[in-house]
Amino acid sequence: MAKAPAKKSAKKAAKKAAKTTAKKAVTAAKKAAAKAPAKKAAKKATASKAKKEKNISGYGMGGVDVVMSVDQVAKEAASIAANAPDLKKLKKLANDDSFLVIDNLCAGYGKMQILHDFTMHVKKGQSLCLIGPNGAGKSTVLHSIFGFTNIFSGKISVEGRDVTALTSSQKLAQAGIAYILQDKSVFPGMTVEENLLMGGFLKDKPAEAKEAAERVFEKYTRLADRRDKPAGVLSGGERRLLEISRALVMNPDVLLVDEPSIGLEPRFIDMVFEILHDLQHVDGKTIVMVEQNAKKGLEFADLGYVLVSGETAMADKGDDLLKNPDVGRLFLGG
Ligand SMILES: Nc1ncnc2c1ncn2[C@@H]1O[C@H](COP(=O)(O)OP(=O)(O)OP(=O)(O)O)[C@@H](O)[C@H]1O
Ligand SMILES: [Mg+2]
Repeated sequence: MAKAPAKKSAKKAAKKAAKTTAKKAVTAAKKAAAKAPAKKAAKKATASKAKKEKNISGYGMGGVDVVMSVDQVAKEAASIAANAPDLKKLKKLANDDSFLVIDNLCAGYGKMQILHDFTMHVKKGQSLCLIGPNGAGKSTVLHSIFGFTNIFSGKISVEGRDVTALTSSQKLAQAGIAYILQDKSVFPGMTVEENLLMGGFLKDKPAEAKEAAERVFEKYTRLADRRDKPAGVLSGGERRLLEISRALVMNPDVLLVDEPSIGLEPRFIDMVFEILHDLQHVDGKTIVMVEQNAKKGLEFADLGYVLVSGETAMADKGDDLLKNPDVGRLFLGG
């Protein structure tokens, strides 16, 4: 009679084995099913990339305050992107003596990729202006250099040193890179001097920040005369000067400037560009700027890159881009 339970348990074991096999089969099938769409999606992505390479669209999610229609600009941009500069040209523009290098950068926010294999070469003491339609990724280039984006692949280096993975604080304190924030970054209730000292918060000793602030005041008497006034009473131009000066407290080699002319009256715009000119030509700073006022930006900068959909469509000397009829039609309103 001992056979019955044995039979029973054998049956049970067989059932269990069958169940496990079935379960395994289901899992395998599920995996295969999951793989199929992934493969399909990858294929689709490749296809869309190929399509995109042929037909770069001009706009992301920016504003629409432009002279031409979005579609028109997209079409035109696609045609000029056919002559995208090669690496040799980019290096040559930096006199084959690159100081700040972005090498095939793919970067964005969260999982969203904005920059696609973006490459940039700048010589020490050169200035470069990024122009392009709203949403093209111009600010994202500056954000990436300063460590505000997700970098998927590629490299950023300064004087041969890989700085890709440094935090923003490390970039400022150790790599000599400063980012000048776009508009409205001064603390209106704090005095001009206190605002300036904030720029030195990464210095080891507060006395060093104080010394650096004094050097700024020596240079810009306009700020020195107002050092004890709340920053909120400054004019737009003075406020921009304070924003730039605050970045100078750390004595950076590279200045990243986003839209220096935004919200300023013409006379202040000229003042800000004169200050930047002085920082480049007297103090030897390397400047990478984004400027919506493409004419001003290209007149100022040694080099200009035209960014379209996160890729460089054109790159040349600023003067040459100004003379380029495509740039004129698309970005200079003429
Ligand atoms: N912090 C962020 N999080 C998520 N997406 C962002 C962020 N900042 C920008 N983007 C997106 O990245 C894309 C590129 O934006 P970016 O600000 O670099 O463009 P831009 O060329 O500077 O445009 P604009 O001329 O309007 O300043 C846009 O589609 C924008 O919506
Ligand atoms: Mg921007």
